[in-house]
Amino acid sequence: MSVDLTGKVAVVTGSGRGLGLAYARALAAAGAAVVVNDVDGDAAEAAVESVRSAGGRAVAVVAPVGPAETADALVAAAVESFGKLDVLVTNAGVLRDRVLWKTSDDDFDLVVETHLRGTFTTARAAAVHMRERGEGGRIVVVGSPAGQHGNFGQTSYAAAKAGIVAMARTWSLELARARITVNAVIPTAITAMTATIPIYEGVAAAHAAGEPLPRVVRRDHALGGPEDCAPVVVWLASDASADVTGQAIGIGGDKLSLYAHPTEVATTYRDGGWTADGVADAWAQTLAPHAQPSGIVLPPLEAEEQAADAPAT
Ligand SMILES: NC(=O)c1ccc[n+]([C@@H]2O[C@H](COP(=O)([O-])OP(=O)(O)OC[C@H]3O[C@@H](n4cnc5c(N)ncnc54)[C@H](O)[C@@H]3O)[C@@H](O)[C@H]2O)c1
Repeated sequence: MSVDLTGKVAVVTGSGRGLGLAYARALAAAGAAVVVNDVDGDAAEAAVESVRSAGGRAVAVVAPVGPAETADALVAAAVESFGKLDVLVTNAGVLRDRVLWKTSDDDFDLVVETHLRGTFTTARAAAVHMRERGEGGRIVVVGSPAGQHGNFGQTSYAAAKAGIVAMARTWSLELARARITVNAVIPTAITAMTATIPIYEGVAAAHAAGEPLPRVVRRDHALGGPEDCAPVVVWLASDASADVTGQAIGIGGDKLSLYAHPTEVATTYRDGGWTADGVADAWAQTLAPHAQPSGIVLPPLEAEEQAADAPAT
């Protein structure tokens, strides 16, 4: 089945730049009309212009996601400009990276407000509209490897991103009867957000200079440009993914992956329930061999020389 979004209407939050801009451009190129959203008015207008100059249809809503008023304004813009809303992509995001003991209440609240509440309020407004219309729909939320694994220095971000994937699983159940699919994309790309990560400064500079990225970067680190992540969003927005819901799909560079949902990896039982001593014994004998690592595990970038020489698989 070919992926064609002709006649569909999409909202993409945080689409003034970075991954959101790539999603908006790709959705429009596949035929969808797009409501661009960003807090940065200049970026939002430039994004609309870039979609239009490529032959697509787009309007902008300049407002911060988080408050319910913004969510309502996004759905209203889709309906007023293009007649309906078929696809919501909740992409807007910010970082305030600090270790736990240096994380301020304000930084924590901003990250949770933007990612978690912004996803909740926009998805709720979209779900109300889509259920009333009765034509099904697509909600694509955005997680992160940090939310899947935990990541040093990202208390607020990891919490928000893990929560977003948990909401997607919940909504996939609640919205199934209305034929609204809900999936999480776990993207990785060189953007303003990642360019400041110290180990990626060289990679980002090379990418900005138009140099090809090494295999270890595009495959193991799953890093390329934002446009490398857009195809999975286009597919999830389309009729071709009608039977896919409740999934967390990773994409970046040359890599496409499916995340497991948390599952029990070791189980034991004790008649009548457990004591602390019983748990101590069970940990040592049954659970400890399956103890789970925390954090994102990636090969060193220095491996790129050898990897570049390796045959493609
Ligand atoms: N870049 C990556 O490797 C990566 C990895 C995992 C997840 N993500 C997620 O992908 C999404 C996009 O990231 P990016 O790398 O393109 O970041 P980016 O910083 O380049 O772009 C984010 C955009 O969101 C906008 N924004 C911020 N707060 C907003 C708000 N309250 N309302 C509306 N717009 C707002 C910004 O102005 C900006 O245009 C984020 O949710 C991010 O957490 C990115």
